[in-house]
Amino acid sequence: MASPPDGEALFQENCSACHGPRGMGGSAPKLAGDASEWKSKVFERAVLSGVDDHGKPLKAPMPHWKSTSFNADNGVRPSKLEVDAIQQYLHRQK
Ligand code: HEC
Repeated sequence: MASPPDGEALFQENCSACHGPRGMGGSAPKLAGDASEWKSKVFERAVLSGVDDHGKPLKAPMPHWKSTSFNADNGVRPSKLEVDAIQQYLHRQK
């Protein structure tokens, strides 16, 4: 059986270059304590479809992961489980 996705590793590999180590912000906005507290459906939509909590499109360079894959996944689209694991990792920061 597959083990649950490692949200911390996924975040470090795919998001921290812009959003900063532990999601504290970098060239891209802080996620810990902000988007980490969004409803999971809203967070999934932001990551996968590039639409924020107000329904506004997220601007580049934020990737739209529905049409790309996480670095280690070789073309496989991120699953909601992976996105949820990243959000839970961010929720534990602060
Ligand atoms: C190449 C840089 C880059 C990478 C990599 C990146 N992002 Fe972003 N992200 C951005 C930028 C820039 C914005 C702000 C876009 C805007 O304001 O329109 C953003 C916005 C967001 C937002 C909305 C934040 C808010 O408060 O509105 C979320 C959620 C988010 N990113 C999650 C992620 C996750 C999760 C990953 C990794 C799977 C990731 N991002 C990878 C650049 C990046």
